[in-house]
Amino acid sequence: MTTRDSFSGRFGIIAAAAGSAIGLGNIWRFPYVCGQNGGGAFLLVYLICIVLMGLPIMLSEFSIGRKAQSNAYRAFKILSPKSPWYLIGVMGIIAAFTIMSFYSAVGGWTIEYIVRSATNSMSDNPAAQFEGFISGSYKPLAYQLAFLALSFGIVMMGVRKGIESSSKILMPLLLILLIILCIRSVTLPGAVEGLKFLLKPDFSKLTGNSVLLAMGQAFFSLSLGMGCMITYGSYIKREEDLTSSAGMIAGADVFIALLAGIAVFPAAASLGIEPDSGPGLAFITLPGMFQQMAGGMIFSSFFFILLCIAALTSSISLIEVVVSFCVEEMRIRRGYATALVAGCIFLLGILCSLSLGIVPGLNLFGMSFFDLMDFSSSNILLPLGGLFIAIYVGWVLKKLITVKELTNDGSLKFVGLRIFYFLIKYIVPVAIMVVFISGLLRST
Ligand code: PHE
Repeated sequence: MTTRDSFSGRFGIIAAAAGSAIGLGNIWRFPYVCGQNGGGAFLLVYLICIVLMGLPIMLSEFSIGRKAQSNAYRAFKILSPKSPWYLIGVMGIIAAFTIMSFYSAVGGWTIEYIVRSATNSMSDNPAAQFEGFISGSYKPLAYQLAFLALSFGIVMMGVRKGIESSSKILMPLLLILLIILCIRSVTLPGAVEGLKFLLKPDFSKLTGNSVLLAMGQAFFSLSLGMGCMITYGSYIKREEDLTSSAGMIAGADVFIALLAGIAVFPAAASLGIEPDSGPGLAFITLPGMFQQMAGGMIFSSFFFILLCIAALTSSISLIEVVVSFCVEEMRIRRGYATALVAGCIFLLGILCSLSLGIVPGLNLFGMSFFDLMDFSSSNILLPLGGLFIAIYVGWVLKKLITVKELTNDGSLKFVGLRIFYFLIKYIVPVAIMVVFISGLLRST
């Protein structure tokens, strides 16, 4: 038996799990999906999903992981031997591949934008420049490869050194920079329209499909439904308080997404960029705003460096799910496992990148390959994983086990225990099923 690494102390686990949660999902994905789905009403549904589904599922994943002390796949085998629940772990591995394929493409964009800011080569027309870049042939691929190389390099170094040290110092910096960007954004001429778009719910824009997307965004943003938080839970020490950690992680995650929204939408309104411009929204709007700031390129360089690091701490967690499976279950050496997984992800990732540009025919189900990977992971695989985890913790796993984890063997008081059980048993499964069915019916 090898001993499992564990995070050192309280700040370690919160920083690492928050590092997983906070990433491109908050700063790139949230504004673009919110913009395409009506703004304020979407935000509201997203917040409701975070509280009613996200928090209970995060607590469930932490409990499973810490109790079982193993990766997601084995955790179910340990807690419920001879039953098919381990398939949740298998689904999580599929989800990790799917997410990494487009996540690494967008991670690559952040590196391109670091280079551009540092070399002062942003054009006056950020939209055209963005389109030109992502539709290129080798450049997006080269940057995607660079992003993957960085991610896998960190994973190869092991849990503690890699994940912990990178996220601790840099996330607070990202927060400060985002606040500065928000201030600049809301003081631009015409910014009010953008703020209204984000904060004033227009419920007529809410459809079954947009509710599904808001739920998917909540799962994606909190890294739930695919075993990532189970794996991280296994690294949390016995004496840590799971409930307050989960609260802080979710709080920080939502806060960063909100800040990203406040940085993007007012600036978009001021610059005449439509909020529903799609995956390029943040990469077009923010560079447009940097050009209007004194010392804009310095801010721009810093911002994209921090965004890239936030993306790295998330992709590390995705990769860790797969690598820990290969190492602990298939007994593949860590180095080989990492290289193997990296290669497979890059192959899928190439399809994602190219489907945005030179191979526009790479369409399936009426979506580009990129959109298909993005849509199916967040809106199908993760909520489905969440549904099974909720049913498992609510109905299958002995209540005593979960209660012991959540209260550290009774030494802590968890006042929300009853609410937690009510949510995880009834509300979460039913809500996911209803949203799923109504959303998917609408979108076909
Ligand atoms: N939560 C991450 C982000 O917002 C993405 C992610 C999803 C990471 C699922 C791990 C698992 O960028």
